[in-house]
Amino acid sequence: MKKVLVALGSNSYNVYIGQGLLRQAGSRLKEAGLSGRAVIITNPVVKGLYGDILTRALSREGFNVSALLVPDGEEQKSLETAGRLYTELTAVYAERTTPILALGGGVIGDLAGFVAATYLRGVPLVQVPTTLLAQVDSSIGGKVAVDHGKLKNMVGAFYQPRLVIADIDTLKTLPAAILTEELAEVIKYAVIRDRELFAYIEREMGRIKSLDEEALEEIVFRSAGIKAGVVEQDETDLGLRAILNYGHTVGHAIESASDFRVGHGAAVAIGMVAAARVSHRQGILGRDDLLRLKSLIERAGLPTNVPPVDMGKVIEAIRHDKKVRGGRVTFILPRSIGEVFITDEVELALVEQVLAGQE
Ligand SMILES: NC(=O)c1ccc[n+]([C@@H]2O[C@H](COP(=O)([O-])OP(=O)(O)OC[C@H]3O[C@@H](n4cnc5c(N)ncnc54)[C@H](O)[C@@H]3O)[C@@H](O)[C@H]2O)c1
Ligand SMILES: [Zn+2]
Repeated sequence: MKKVLVALGSNSYNVYIGQGLLRQAGSRLKEAGLSGRAVIITNPVVKGLYGDILTRALSREGFNVSALLVPDGEEQKSLETAGRLYTELTAVYAERTTPILALGGGVIGDLAGFVAATYLRGVPLVQVPTTLLAQVDSSIGGKVAVDHGKLKNMVGAFYQPRLVIADIDTLKTLPAAILTEELAEVIKYAVIRDRELFAYIEREMGRIKSLDEEALEEIVFRSAGIKAGVVEQDETDLGLRAILNYGHTVGHAIESASDFRVGHGAAVAIGMVAAARVSHRQGILGRDDLLRLKSLIERAGLPTNVPPVDMGKVIEAIRHDKKVRGGRVTFILPRSIGEVFITDEVELALVEQVLAGQE
């Protein structure tokens, strides 16, 4: 087992990463000072796979466990579902000290986190992420939210968990297509902060793809460490945390221009390559690094070029990105593999050119 400390003063917590950790959940919660009642929020898919293991692990340590179910899918990240959960929490007598365990991917983590942040003005939150994205990204850093209408993550809070339990074994049941998409986020961490991690993924792609435990533990540990480090320096997203959006400005635009037919990871992969091409065209990122990035993304099974979407819509969506400040679009560009910088000096015409496939 590995451990990452997210050092945020009185809001500090540990992220535990390793195999068989669901079984140890009860003792981890007790170590964190939690006891009594505990409420698991999850969806039917994840409950069927891991609900019993987690419930038993908690009961064994004396917790009185209830589980609340939310249907699968992003559309459940809503105030309506949150409202239903408040009612159900009251029905199981959840109190100020009752921990809520978010067992699932980023959807469950964001929704249950939002509910934990607001029910009775805040109850302890334990993230138990079961997707690669949730383990390396959404469970760490305290951003919790629901969507509002078409606006993603519109209503939310910064609310740090008491602890994060990332059991690597849960990744073995993830559909291969989801794992591939979520690898984009791991590659993102490598490009923004860790050239060694990049080389590790290059070397071990075969083992990662075949779900080798040691390789998975290593990439989750390194990625979680990077996320923790960035969050520690910018807990409330006022500056540095923007680097986590590498690949996401163009990525989000492609997702929305394609009516979400292009998945998040695929769109981010295209966005990462586009940002790298822009940097290369500006004479900053070297050709070798650009080619290494493209090649790694291809080997991961992710796209590097824009699929057939309306380019006008993509550019329009970039203009409307919520990161636009004073009419200028903020981009995160790689200086080299392992280092990025934040700039608002990118002409949209250049973005359009690189998206059209010009190196
Ligand atoms: N809070 C943050 O900082 C942050 C960061 C990034 C993304 N997010 C949010 O995360 C969400 C996406 O999260 P996601 O990619 O984990 O998607 P998800 O939560 O929808 O999970 C993907 C699918 O995998 C299933 N699943 C989960 N764990 C499984 C397992 N172990 N085995 C088999 N199936 C499993 C789920 O039921 C779901 O169908 C988005 O809503 C996004 O906004 C939040
Ligand atoms: Zn992302």
